[in-house]
Amino acid sequence: MAETTKTATLTLDGKSYDLPVHSPTLGPDVLDIRKLYAEADVFTFDPGFTSTASCESTITYIDGDKGELLHRGDSIEELAKHSHYLEVCYLLLYGELPTAAQLDDFTGRVTRHTMVHEQMHYFFRGFRRDSHPMATMVGVVGAMSAFYHDSLDISDPWQREVAAIRMIAKLPTIAAMAYKYSIGQPFVYPKNSLDYAGNFLHMCFSIPAEDYVVNPILSKAMDRIMMLHADHEQNASTSTVRLAGSSGANPFACIAAGIACLWGPAHGGANQACLEMLKEIGTVDRIPEFVAKAKDKNSGFRLMGFGHRVYKNFDPRATVMKESADEVLGLLGVDNNPLLQVAKELERIALSDDYFISKKLYPNVDFYSGIILEAMGFPTSMFTPIFAISRTVGWISQWKEMIADKNQKIGRPRQLYVGETHRSYVDVRHR
Ligand code: CMC
Repeated sequence: MAETTKTATLTLDGKSYDLPVHSPTLGPDVLDIRKLYAEADVFTFDPGFTSTASCESTITYIDGDKGELLHRGDSIEELAKHSHYLEVCYLLLYGELPTAAQLDDFTGRVTRHTMVHEQMHYFFRGFRRDSHPMATMVGVVGAMSAFYHDSLDISDPWQREVAAIRMIAKLPTIAAMAYKYSIGQPFVYPKNSLDYAGNFLHMCFSIPAEDYVVNPILSKAMDRIMMLHADHEQNASTSTVRLAGSSGANPFACIAAGIACLWGPAHGGANQACLEMLKEIGTVDRIPEFVAKAKDKNSGFRLMGFGHRVYKNFDPRATVMKESADEVLGLLGVDNNPLLQVAKELERIALSDDYFISKKLYPNVDFYSGIILEAMGFPTSMFTPIFAISRTVGWISQWKEMIADKNQKIGRPRQLYVGETHRSYVDVRHR
């Protein structure tokens, strides 16, 4: 438990209540209101949890004002420069960067679990061909609990570990299968001689009739996209995983819940929504029309890929992703593609427009990741599944941390009830 350094006093109806104040290792102090209801008979009101810490965590730290993102203390910029996805997975899961032997062992364990139960192939066939791959993933990942009975006991650390490795290893296979199914091509089995990102590209883009060689530039870019999305503190989908897990639900069900939450356009679905918006804008001359619409509250329209709940200066992941986008598009020779021209001009206008500056709305990670994925040849419907693959390790790390936490309780928020007070039942004939 964090150190208790101070006490805050709340005065209500003439009575005072002492609230312990905990000091984190980084970030603002945290008022401990756990006993408030029992002692003062009041709740706190915080829709959207903008001022509420739901747990203690040692995994990821974000300073939204500074635009800082740390995993176990290591900055995302340094990790993006020197590390790779599976090493970051190890860091998130176990708290330290691995030694060479530990990394070898971890990579081997993940690699040996890339195939899915053969019967799952039949399970896929129950979905309509035109299902969104996220819809298929929610179903298939949830159904893993029907296939892997030997890793469902959350009280057994070994089973928790096996479930974690299984999901990290199999999510790319499941996402690629969802994609292949949606385009009517045969499933491609994983090829364990390839690295994690390369294997995913292979399963998405190779076909039995032709040889497919993974482009190392694209596989490096994919690895970076995965790394930049690996974890992000207590965001909506991670909080969903924790809340689902707090009831003791099995890990596959919890991650399926996280995938469902991620799908929304305000969260992981933003990368698809952003690319679709760029396509709708179509040409640079139409940008002012869309910017005006984004500023008009009554339009209900937002510039997708802009803004963030926590980052109010810049999104450090976006900075790295922008570099990656420039690199990949340059190398693929598509840097004068019309969509990219629209993206670049939109970025320029939004960054110099008072509305966006005053509201601290900057391009976020999804603005650039969508552009890279489009250039790689992925349809927009695969953007959010790729986010889901990448975030799985974050969800699992947070879920494991929660299960091991002795203070963990079932999540059960309260409410500010504003409905009818007591009334008498009125018979249907008199309503
Ligand atoms: N375009 C236009 N106006 C915006 C936008 C936007 N993208 N985002 C926020 N605003 C305005 C909003 O209308 C509000 O104005 P006012 O103060 O006048 O009412 C103000 O900025 C604050 O917005 P908010 O909705 O209170 O902010 P939030 O912290 O609740 O929402 C957000 C954060 C990410 C949901 C929001 O910025 C948004 O909807 N962005 C577009 C979707 C998007 O790109 N999401 C991906 C986030 S990054 C990936 C991830 O972690 O999932």
